This record gives sequence, C-alpha cells and structure tokens, in this order.
Amino acid sequence: MDPRFQGIEPFAKKVWLATPTMHGEEKHWVDDAIETNWVSTVGANINEVEKQIAEYIGVKYAVALSAGTAALHLATKLAGEKLYGQAKPNQGTLQGHRVFCSDMTFDASINPVAYEDGEAVFIDTEPDTWNMDPVALEKAFEIYPDVRLVVIAHLYGTPGKMEELKKICDAHHALIVEDAAESLGAKYLLNGKWIETGALGDYNCISFNGNKIITGSAGGMFLTDSKEDADKVRKWSTQSREAAPWYQHEEIGYNYRMSNIIAGIVRGQIPYLAEHIAQKKAIYERYKEGFKDLPVSMNPYDAEKTVPNFWLSCLLIDEDAMAPHVRSDSSELWTTAPGKSSPGEILSTLASFNAEGRPIWKPMHLQPIYRTHAFITSEGNGRGKTNAYIAGSGIDVGADIFRRGLCLPSDNKMTPDEQAKVMDIIHRCFE
Ligand SMILES: Cc1ncc(COP(=O)(O)O)c(C=O)c1O
Repeated sequence: MDPRFQGIEPFAKKVWLATPTMHGEEKHWVDDAIETNWVSTVGANINEVEKQIAEYIGVKYAVALSAGTAALHLATKLAGEKLYGQAKPNQGTLQGHRVFCSDMTFDASINPVAYEDGEAVFIDTEPDTWNMDPVALEKAFEIYPDVRLVVIAHLYGTPGKMEELKKICDAHHALIVEDAAESLGAKYLLNGKWIETGALGDYNCISFNGNKIITGSAGGMFLTDSKEDADKVRKWSTQSREAAPWYQHEEIGYNYRMSNIIAGIVRGQIPYLAEHIAQKKAIYERYKEGFKDLPVSMNPYDAEKTVPNFWLSCLLIDEDAMAPHVRSDSSELWTTAPGKSSPGEILSTLASFNAEGRPIWKPMHLQPIYRTHAFITSEGNGRGKTNAYIAGSGIDVGADIFRRGLCLPSDNKMTPDEQAKVMDIIHRCFE
C-alpha cells in the first residue's frame, strides 16, 4: 500500500463519472406507452418530447431519433446534399469534399463525415473553453478556401466561441453542423441574446445517451427552424418512403427513429433538466474550491458569454506539476514524483478506490484512423511540425489538454462527502 493513501477505504458503492438519474415519472410514461399499445416508433411520447425540446431550445422543429449519432449523420447528410446535391445510392453526399471538424471531441461528432464519404480536416482547440479555435479555423479557410461545411462540438457542456466561429463561417459561406450532444441546457450570448446550444448552427443535434445530462437510455434529436429539413430528416429516418400505397423509394433510407418507449423515459426526464444542471454546477464549484491549493485548473468557460451545463468537471495539471507519464496507442506508464502527479496516476488511484474518472477525449488528429487527415492549428498546418535539426515543435493545444487533463467523477448523485473523499485522494496523489 502506498503510504500516501493510508487510512482511506475504497468507496463501498462505486462513484461514477456520469450515470442516469431516474425520478419516477419516466416509468409513468413508459407504462403509458405499453398500456396504450404504442410500443413503436410512433406515439404520444415522441410527439410530446419533440414539442417540449423544440420549445425549450427555441427552435421550430425537433425530430426524435434513435441516437445523437443518428442525428449527426442525418444533419451532416442534409448539409452535404444542400451544398453538393443528391448523391447516388452508393455514394455519400460529401464525396470529394473536405469538412472542417472539431478535433477534441468524441468520434461520433465527426464520423458522419466519413459515412458521407467526406474528408474531415481537424481544427485545433483553444485553451479558453477547450473547443474549436477560431484562429485555427480562419487559417484552415486560408489553406482550403473551397470548404463549405464545419462540424462544431461543445465539449463537456461548455459552449465554444460561437460568435467568432459563426462570423468566420459566414464570411466563407460555410454551413455549421452543431453537435450539442453534451451541452443540452447550456446557453450562449449571441448579439445580446441568450441562445441555447442546439440552436446555434444550421443543422443541430443533441443526445439522450445514458451518460448525458438527461437521458432516454439512448436517443437523440435533430433540431431546426426549417420545416423542409425536419420533414426530410423524418423521412430519411423512417426508411425514406415515397407517397405510394407500397414501399416506393427514391432515396436511401435509415431506421433511425426514436422509439416511443425511449421517448417515455425522455419525457419523464425533461422536467428535471434544470435540477440536473444545478447539481452538476455544484459539483464543479466544489471541485474548483477544493483544488485551489493544488497546481491544477478546472475546465474553463467564458462566464460573461456562456452558461455551461457543467456536464463533466475536468482537471488540468499545471505543466510544472506533471509527473512522468507516457502513453502508447493502447497503454500508459507513469511514475510518482513529490508535489506532482499525472492523469494516469490520478485515474488509476481513483479506480483503486472504486471511483470512475476518464481521460480527456483523445483528439481526432491523433487517432490512428484519422492519422492521414489534415490538422490545422493557429499556426497553420499542424502536421510535420518537428525538425531533426531545429529545437522545439509546433503548437498542439488538443494534444496538450489530452496529456495533462482528465475528467473527474461528475455523477449528480455523488454526495458532498463522497466528493470530499475524491478530492482527498487527488490531493494525496500530489504528495
Ligand atoms: C460530443 C458527442 N457527440 C456525439 C455523441 C453521440 O451521441 P449518441 O451516443 O447519442 O449517439 C456523443 C455521446 O455519446 C458525444 O459526447
């Protein structure tokens, strides 16, 4: 036993990163679906959650789908079709085209670009909100002026620099797919008006995955002000039936519609969105206060222009407090050092006490699958930036946050006492 951790007992009940929090109303609406026999991809729960979420976000239409990934796929396809026309059945709408994409995010944000045969170009992250860097985006348009589509995610519930990003996209006549999967309930002050994330792009998506701020166990939504787009997504998501007595098809279809059972769970969760956000915010504030004496900072946000939903609390270790820590593509090695620690040490120590954290999303430009894709930083092309004969290497904000950062246990059912113990364990990692 490492003497630094003497006297601490593992949590008897696991402390999680983020799990579903049920309240009872979910069961009522699921039972209602079963009792009325609407156990299908049509029903009152679906209609109701579409109405309530559209109203909450402030968009005209919401289309309930089987997953956030499905929403992102159809949003990306819609953008591709608008920009480049309808594709043949065996081709994606983005074939032969590049798309600028958030780099530090879950791969579900940007895989739909590949589903549609497009080529993702990854845009580096800024340190102020950990989202797409507008300076790097501008550089990307200098290098690839033909690009017309940008996929932007809001990381961990913190809105990105949308005013700057939207201005650049407008100037280059580019459309935005907004991935608000993690940020439902977060707001952004745009031109003096508070706008919900999920209403900031041209094609907008949210997720009800089990770990999200509210959940249906699964599920997602496409959000828009365009009736035509909403109708198209609804049609594509239900196998693209044409108006005929038989199954007639002129377009490729998908089975992406939300089930009325899932929608029942979402319906029961919607009234608790504000409560969940308040709990997550309290967790973030307690970490921030509790870590004041450590050489670390929390995932940052712009307190004037944004209200995050605080979905996940994250930690960034100061550079000079990083203990040795190296990662391969599938494993890691770290060692202890007085006054220092590392994500590897903190996460494995938490796990040994039955608490769950997680590494930061590994940036897409570092992923083996996208290794051959371009990566643009605030300095321009981010690939090939070292030189055997010159000291120093290029900027890579995403890689740096991945290296020094981690997601903390952020479950809204974690008690203040449990959180105090998590913070005690992390303090001892730095001893
Ligand atoms: C940023 C981001 N985008 C997309 C998704 C995909 O959503 P889903 O799991 O509902 O398909 C997730 C999470 O799961 C996510 O975190």
